[in-house]
Amino acid sequence: MCGIVGYVGSKKATPILIDGLLSLEYRGYDSAGIATIENDVIKVMKDKGRVNNLNNLEGINDLVGTIGIAHTRWATHGKPSKENSHPHMDNSGKFAVVHNGIIENYSDLREFLTSKGYTFISQTDTEVIPNLIHYYYTNGPVSVIEDTKEKFLGAVKSAIYDLKGSYAIEVISTILPDEIIVVRKDSPLVIGKGNGENYIASDIPAILKYTKEFYLLDDNEFAVIEKDSIRFFDNSLQEHNRAIKNIDWDANAAGKDGFEDYMLKEIFEQPTAIRETIGSRFRLGEKCSFDDIEISKEYLQSINKIFIVACGTAMHAGLVGKALIENLCKIPTEVDIASEFRYRNPLIDEHTLCIYISQSGETADTIAALKLAKAHGAKTLAISNVIGSSITREADYSIYTHAGPEIAVASTKAYTSQVVLISILAIYFAEVLGSSSETVLEELKSDLIDLPSKVEKILDDTEVIKAFAKKVYAEKDMFFLGRGTDYNVALEGSLKLKEISYIHSEAYAAGELKHGPIALIENGVTVIGIITNPNLLEKSISNLQEVITRGAKTLIITNQILPNGHFDYVINIPETNPLISPILSVIPMQLLAYYISKQKGLDVDKPRNLAKSVTVE
Ligand code: AGP
Ligand code: GLU
Repeated sequence: MCGIVGYVGSKKATPILIDGLLSLEYRGYDSAGIATIENDVIKVMKDKGRVNNLNNLEGINDLVGTIGIAHTRWATHGKPSKENSHPHMDNSGKFAVVHNGIIENYSDLREFLTSKGYTFISQTDTEVIPNLIHYYYTNGPVSVIEDTKEKFLGAVKSAIYDLKGSYAIEVISTILPDEIIVVRKDSPLVIGKGNGENYIASDIPAILKYTKEFYLLDDNEFAVIEKDSIRFFDNSLQEHNRAIKNIDWDANAAGKDGFEDYMLKEIFEQPTAIRETIGSRFRLGEKCSFDDIEISKEYLQSINKIFIVACGTAMHAGLVGKALIENLCKIPTEVDIASEFRYRNPLIDEHTLCIYISQSGETADTIAALKLAKAHGAKTLAISNVIGSSITREADYSIYTHAGPEIAVASTKAYTSQVVLISILAIYFAEVLGSSSETVLEELKSDLIDLPSKVEKILDDTEVIKAFAKKVYAEKDMFFLGRGTDYNVALEGSLKLKEISYIHSEAYAAGELKHGPIALIENGVTVIGIITNPNLLEKSISNLQEVITRGAKTLIITNQILPNGHFDYVINIPETNPLISPILSVIPMQLLAYYISKQKGLDVDKPRNLAKSVTVE
């Protein structure tokens, strides 16, 4: 959630910090702020509202400091207000801190600090941090350290040691005005290496235009960043080296490229994202290759259950994954919502494989669910879009979608890439296990290869969808119906609509409707039906007939030949294997949600109340 930026170099820090915060806007936030150091004084400028408002604050353009930290806040403790915005300072004005995450034991720490005479200006959990740093700097064993550098880092470490919860933190101090100390736990933070200058951010795209060389911090690892050096320390402050990662993303890929919104751009990037995700994983007539994870045949044979665990859209991709794995590999597979999985004592042992899907790789519940499975002896496999993200560093095996940076809060290209990757993984497992015929697997591979051009075909003609969006945008409720993987994708279509158009919608397994929800169908209600499986064609038509009889208006997304004159609108999509048809049928639903949102004049990329990366529970 929210974001962090930092800069130390020879240039004026403020414009770089604000620019970085603007790139992180998509993550969702309610307040913004920066701190720089000038003439040994920390200058803080902050307020609730948009990052751009910072530019209107009096004196912001006069800040000439060449070191600074910056923050967008997504309030967890204390309402959005100027006082609660970050950076926060200690009582002496010597330390300033920005923090993403939650300090769970903040009230105990606040009580302790109050007993020592500290006072607090904000209602945040964060404000204990700069004061704790000051406390340790001036009290206890750290305070007697003579070397100032060692003492500052020691004080930060002692303060961090007291924190329970999640955090990505930047600290600056007037005592050492040329360095930024950072540390993280369960909250994202990357360091970008420049030439005579260094950068910090919550994610790579925010600073990609400045550098392509990154360091990815581990949990509880500290870094001390100056303009010409970056030093790393473990949680006992032993210094160590850290390998640099070269990121080959194109900085422009994170811009809008002439599209009105990131979401539309990302919808149109799906052919490329799918191609890149398939990459060189397989060629027709050859077996799939997953050299990067080295899963042995013996291990696969020992698995008697797979869990796929994720949140939101990634969980919907998991539902399609379940169908693929069960069909091709014959291994019982359960899909679970990460926030449920982690608290329900799932039956896991060393014969369970747990697959975690996360675009960002930073979703708090998914990470916690992964740690839980590891603790129970299961092997864990992460599917993520972000190299070096927390989830990939925790998992035993990691594989990547190659969708490129996804900025819009509503996930589109990540979903289709996730389904593609899990399809290839299922084929690979089936090849290793010999659990499906070669013909079936080869046909599926060929269908996967054909997907990008089929997606392009759907994207070539968006007129029916636009027209339909104009007709229904003012509605209050909609229903999505499907069977099998059409039901799985109906859930995703319904989520997209809720997220960005604020229309209430429900997705149902078409056959389940008559067990209750059909009571909601009345004259004029819109029902969207997805029909892509020839074996379920007649049954699906019957279910839709049931809602038509009760006055529903219907839009059908299909690759089948439907009886004439039955339905109000039909969107024809290309045929493919029903197991992977969600990759095609989801696209009209993404576009529908998009055009309805536009028609209503809403902020498509930053829907209300939502954050791109949910790094808190
Ligand atoms: C998708 O449109 C949503 N914004 C949301 O459901 C998202 O998929 C979910 O929060 C999981 O995120 P992750 O893939 O980064 O873990
Ligand atoms: N918990 C802190 C606050 O409410 C930080 C929230 C954030 O991650 O932005 O201020």
